[in-house]
This record gives sequence, structure tokens and C-alpha cells, in this order.
Amino acid sequence: MTTATQPDHTVLGLETSCDETAASVVRRHADGRVEVLSSVIASQVAEHAPFGGVVPEIAARAHVESIDSIAARAMAEAGLGYGDLTGVAATAGPGLVGGVMVGLSFGKAVALARGLPLVAVNHLEGHAVSARLGADLPYRFLLLLVSGGHCQLLDVAGVGACRRLGSTIDDAAGEAFDKIAKTLGLPYPGGPALEKLAEGGDPARFPLPRMLLGRKDCDFSFSGLKTAAARIAEGLTSEVDRRDLAAAVQAAIASQLAEKSDRALQIYAREHQGRDLRFVVAGGVAANRLVRARLTETAAARGFSFHAPPLAYCTDNAAMIALAGAERLALGLTDPLDAPARPRWPLDAAAAAASPTHVPGRKGAKA
Ligand code: KG4
Ligand code: ZN
Repeated sequence: MTTATQPDHTVLGLETSCDETAASVVRRHADGRVEVLSSVIASQVAEHAPFGGVVPEIAARAHVESIDSIAARAMAEAGLGYGDLTGVAATAGPGLVGGVMVGLSFGKAVALARGLPLVAVNHLEGHAVSARLGADLPYRFLLLLVSGGHCQLLDVAGVGACRRLGSTIDDAAGEAFDKIAKTLGLPYPGGPALEKLAEGGDPARFPLPRMLLGRKDCDFSFSGLKTAAARIAEGLTSEVDRRDLAAAVQAAIASQLAEKSDRALQIYAREHQGRDLRFVVAGGVAANRLVRARLTETAAARGFSFHAPPLAYCTDNAAMIALAGAERLALGLTDPLDAPARPRWPLDAAAAAASPTHVPGRKGAKA
């Protein structure tokens, strides 16, 4: 690691860890103020839709084809040349490694060609700072990170300082939305489609299991819900049935997120008595209106302020990667040009090693 000394940071961020090719220019002023100068996202949804989910090989190829033009558009929309940048930040993991390598290699090439510092950003750290893109939100805060690949509660003390309070022991919440949506015959990505189908549905008509709610920890589980919903879906005949099941599933996921968050809020409040209590939700599932509403109530009941990124920064984007990079640059943290692409990269490495709750796999803990 080397040090950087610029008071303001203007950073090109690159995001290619899943099915979005994204580039953004963010300026972080010396006083901490944040300006998003551009944020360009090319979604690959149409390319993956026929397969009902993200196909890693198709994703990697699509990133290769568009990264050049997407980065050029982000620079043009910001009205800047590469010479105006003070750094380059690229997602280095966790994610689909073929895609991660595309954005990271592109970022390394720009850094090398322009003599700029490189920051290899943890995608989850990007989500963790995403609420800071829309508001002046100081550290420290309790974070519920809910996306397609992750579902965890983190005590975020500052840049790179996260302590995990809980995590899913099977699927992530977004994954549960996507898989259940598929059994309901909805297109990928399932979360937004299921939210739409659930409108006006009766959430109380189909009883669904309340997973792990008897346990005192802050861990999540969605696999029982997935199985129960799939069984019920098999017997459904009418559109009203499907709507009611969608409403029940959405309510069950929102309840579990709210109830486990409530436990974490209590722990956090005990540990940080007398300080400002802030609760932040980030990641794609934070776009769900019922989830937001339940979490807003939960936070208020425990005396926490509630923060969520603007909708555009809930799902994957490069502005959050650029900001995470700028925050690291402001602390003098940079990475060498041989920084590796990492398919697995937990934010709280110690907790993940001690209790690899989410899909441990051969390569180590994912979350
Ligand atoms: O953060 P994200 O874009 O990518 C990951 O890092 O995983 O999150 C994508 C996930 C998908 O599972 C998608 O179905 C879910 O977020 N999602 C939603 C909604 N919008 C996106 N889930 C429920 N309701 C939504 N409105
Ligand atoms: Zn993400």
C-alpha cells in the first residue's frame, strides 16, 4: 500500500461483478461532501433472461464487449478527461470472477497508462457506503446488507472496519425472492417482478414458516420458506392465488429482515449507548417498498435514524465503487497493480472464518 495526498478525489469507478457493466465518476471533496458526476449502467438482463438467471460466461463476454464504451460514456457525461482523475477504483470481488477480472483489468490499464493510483474495491464495501451517495451520513452505523448474493448485519465503524453481527445460513434474501419468483412463473430478476405481482394481494391467506425466529441470534434463513412456497405454488390455478402467494412471500421475507434487524439494533444500542444510533439498509432488496417500510418502523421503535440509498444506488452500480475508492484514497489506501480478482472476499474475515454461514464452498467463506 502507498499513500496519496490530494485533498479532493475524483475517481472513476468500475463495476463488473455480476450482470451489470457500470462506470461512474464521483468527486469526494476534502470536507467529505460527495458529488456523483456520472453513473452509467448497462444491464445484461435481456441476455440472461432466456436462462432464468445469470450465466457467468455470458456475463463475462458482455462485460468485455461494453466496458470500453461504458467507461468512455461515464467520462463524457462527467465532462472530464482521464487527466482530471485522481484515482481509479474497480470491484475486485466478491462475485463472478470472469466478470470481476474484466473491470479490474480495465481499471489497472487506466491506472498504468495515466499514472493513477488503483483501489481494488470490495463490492460489499461499495454497498456499505452507498447510502453516503445520497445524504450526509457519518460513520458509525448498523448496516443490513441485502442483495442477491448477500444477507448480513454489520457494525460499520468506518472504511474497512466492519464487524458481522449476523448472516444468512443458506440463501440470501434476494436469492429467495428470485427463486420463489421463478416457481411463480415470473421472469428474472424475480424481486421486482414479485413485488409487482404482490400488489393488492392478501398476505395472510397462505401460512408460511417463520424461519429461525425462535433463535436469539441475528442469523437469517430462507430455504424453508422457498420450499414451502414452491409446494403451495404447485397447486395454484388462478391469478388471484398467485398474487396472494406473492404477497405472503414478500411479507414473510420483510418480517424476517425486520425481526433479525431488531435483535441487531438492540445489541448495537447496548454497545454504543449515548451515541447517535443510525440504521442503514443497502443492496438490491432495499429497493422493495414493504421491506423499507418494515425496517423504517423497526428503526424508529428502537430510537434509530433510518437511511437507505436512493433507489438507483440500491442495485449494483459503479458510483458506490467510486465512492468506496475515494474514501480509501482519502485515507491513503491504494493497491498494487497485481491486486487479485477474488471470487470470495468477506468484509469481516475473522467472523467468516470462524462461522462460514453462507455457502462456504471450496474457496472459503463467501460472506
Ligand atoms: O445489489 P444487487 O443489484 O446485486 C447483488 O449484489 O446481488 O441485488 C440484486 C437482488 C436480486 O436478487 C433482485 O431480485 C433483488 O436484489 N431486488 C429486489 C427488488 N429489486 C431488486 N428484491 C425485492 N424487491 C425489489 N424491488
Ligand atoms: Zn451488489
